[in-house]
Amino acid sequence: MNLSVNETEVKLLLEGIRLRYGYDFRQYAEASMTRRVESIARSFAATDLLALLRRILDDRSFFLEVLPYLTVTTSEMFRDPLFFKALREDVIPVLRTYPTFNIWSAGCSTGEEIFSLSILLREEGLSDRATIYATDINPRAIHSAQDGIYQVETIKTSIRNYQEAGGKESFSDYYTADYGLAKMNSDLLSNVVFAEHNLVTDQVFAECHLVLCRNVLIYFNKELQSRVLKLFEDSLRHRGYLCLGSKESLKFSGSAGAFETIDEKWRIYRKTAHGLARGFDA
Ligand SMILES: C[S@@+](CC[C@H](N)C(=O)[O-])C[C@H]1O[C@@H](n2cnc3c(N)ncnc32)[C@H](O)[C@@H]1O
Repeated sequence: MNLSVNETEVKLLLEGIRLRYGYDFRQYAEASMTRRVESIARSFAATDLLALLRRILDDRSFFLEVLPYLTVTTSEMFRDPLFFKALREDVIPVLRTYPTFNIWSAGCSTGEEIFSLSILLREEGLSDRATIYATDINPRAIHSAQDGIYQVETIKTSIRNYQEAGGKESFSDYYTADYGLAKMNSDLLSNVVFAEHNLVTDQVFAECHLVLCRNVLIYFNKELQSRVLKLFEDSLRHRGYLCLGSKESLKFSGSAGAFETIDEKWRIYRKTAHGLARGFDA
C-alpha cells in the first residue's frame, strides 16, 4: 500500500532528522522531498509515517539506509559527455598553465564524476599536478566511491559516454571486470582526497581552481541555492571555474555578477575580477 504524506508530516520528519543527526534538509525543494519520503515509505513497507519517523530517529544505521533516498545519488561516468568534452577543450588548457591546481567535486555521490575527472586529467598528462577534493553529505556514497566498484551492466553507457566525451584511449583500460562487477583501477584515486562535507552547514575548506557541483543544487530551494553558490564563489581563486548541472544556473542568485559565462549550455562559469572584489582571494 502506498503511503501518501502531507507537507506537515514531511516538515516533522525533517525537523526530527535535523535535531537528532544534524542533517538539515529543511531548504530542499518541497515537492521532491515529499516524493522522496513517500519512496522511503514504499521501499520499507511503512504504513504509518509516525512509526517510520520513530524508527529513523531511534536507529542510526536505519537512518544511514534512508539517507540516500533523501539525497538522490544517481550518477554515471562522463555524465553529459559533451560537458566533459567542453571541460577538456575550454578549461583544461587553462589549468595546464598552473604548476599545481585544486579541483573540488561537491556532491560526488558514488564516484563516477571523480573517475571521469581523473581519467580526463590522466589523458591530458595532468594527474600529477592535480588534487581532487571529492565530497558528499552521504558517507555510504563516499565509501562506494572509494571502492570504485560498479555493476558491469553500467559499463556500456560508460564506454559510450567516454567516447562521446572525447576519450583518447579505451575505457576498458581503466577497470577490470569480474563476477558481474567492474572495479575501477585504484591508481585513478591516487590524487583524490575524500571527505564528508555538507553544503548546507559546512564551510569552504580549500582554495580551488575548479569547482564542480553538478545535479545537486536542483534539489535545493532558491535561497539555499544562492547560499551554496556563494560558498563556491568564496572557494574559487581568481579566474577559477565553476561547473553546474545542465538544469542548474547561476542566474537569479547573488553570485551571478561574480562570474562570466564560458559555456551557457554546459553551465561552465568563470570567476571575474568583480568576483575577486566580492570574495577573498590570493
Ligand atoms: C544526483 S547526485 C549527483 C552526483 C554527481 N555530481 C553527478 O552529477 O552525477 C547528488 C549528490 O548530492 C549529494 N548531496 C545532496 N545534498 C547535499 C549536501 N547538502 N551536501 C553535500 N552533498 C549533498 C547527494 O548525497 C548525492 O550524492
